[in-house]
Amino acid sequence: MARFPEFVQIKEVGPRDGLQNEEKRVSSTDKITFIDLLSESGLQEVEYSSFVHPKWVPQLSDAHEVGQKIKRFPNVRYSALVPNIKGLELALEAGIDGASVFMSASETHNKKNINKSISETFPVLFKVVREAKQAKKHVTGYVSTVFDCPYEGRINPDKVVAVCDKLLECGVDDISLGDTIGTAVPPQVENLLNVVLSRYPKEKIILHFHDTRGMAIANILQALEYGIFRFDSSAGGLGGCPYAPGAAGNVATNDVLYLLHGLGIKTGIHEQKIQEATGFIQSKLGKPLPSKSFAAMANELLG
Ligand code: HMG
Ligand code: MG
Repeated sequence: MARFPEFVQIKEVGPRDGLQNEEKRVSSTDKITFIDLLSESGLQEVEYSSFVHPKWVPQLSDAHEVGQKIKRFPNVRYSALVPNIKGLELALEAGIDGASVFMSASETHNKKNINKSISETFPVLFKVVREAKQAKKHVTGYVSTVFDCPYEGRINPDKVVAVCDKLLECGVDDISLGDTIGTAVPPQVENLLNVVLSRYPKEKIILHFHDTRGMAIANILQALEYGIFRFDSSAGGLGGCPYAPGAAGNVATNDVLYLLHGLGIKTGIHEQKIQEATGFIQSKLGKPLPSKSFAAMANELLG
């Protein structure tokens, strides 16, 4: 047991990464209820929406209203995705505790996702991070396609650390490494963490797995062995990236909690509350969400 961290922090990304890929529009009122239910669970951070161009992600075009109307629990950091200064300014008006900037280790995915080359992205993010830090906000830098890219295939860890180095130079507080299309298996996690952790302290690193092939829990177990103690996940396994074909939802918060609590690792999060929030958003989407622990726990309650 000593090999695992004692405490793990979860960032709930369902209201952002989850909903951004759902075709059925969820009303702002229902998003607000969903986020408030999540906040009651003891989560440390909720990424509540995204201040990207509304044409690119129509589901989240109500980010401003949602940000203004959610309840603010004092122990929760409310963050949002911001691609540029315009997004940051809108996010600051709506009220954020944290800004998440994002880019990709793959040139093609970066271009398709944010319409810029990797080298064109850094000056934009440099200004965003500087302004966000001046406003005293926490800033996370997401790096997408750290294992595989839907357009370029396998990504060399050297490309990943080149982007991480630049993001840290820009001034981000920490980095979330994304398995955007959910293709990685544990040896890839091992390979990347060997490189990443020889360069940065583990406190700076968050892992963000999509569960397209059902490997996310195995990958998290692998990362826990390296002492990684921060993960992103979404209630019920909602989600995906609209600019990464075939990408399924994030690993389900419900499944991650079942694993962590089963390993005796503390999270400060009540599984039952996550269950309630998941049940709520599932009823609004009108389709079963992929989390197996969610389904099993819901059946136990019924039976
Ligand atoms: P662009 O078209 O290159 O933008 O898009 P632009 O700077 O040339 O501006 C064009 C117009 O958009 C202008 O308006 C701007 O004002 C407006 P006009 O003058 O023509 O009337 N504009 C904006 N409006 C509202 N909010 C803004 C904004 N910015 C410019 N923030 C842009 C560039 C980055 C905006 C666009 O490509 C975009 O919004 N991309 C977002 C794509 C996205 O959200 N992808 C999913 C999230 S990433 C993800 O899911 C991965 C992650 O989960 C990690 C993982 O899994 O790996 C994080
Ligand atoms: Mg994602």
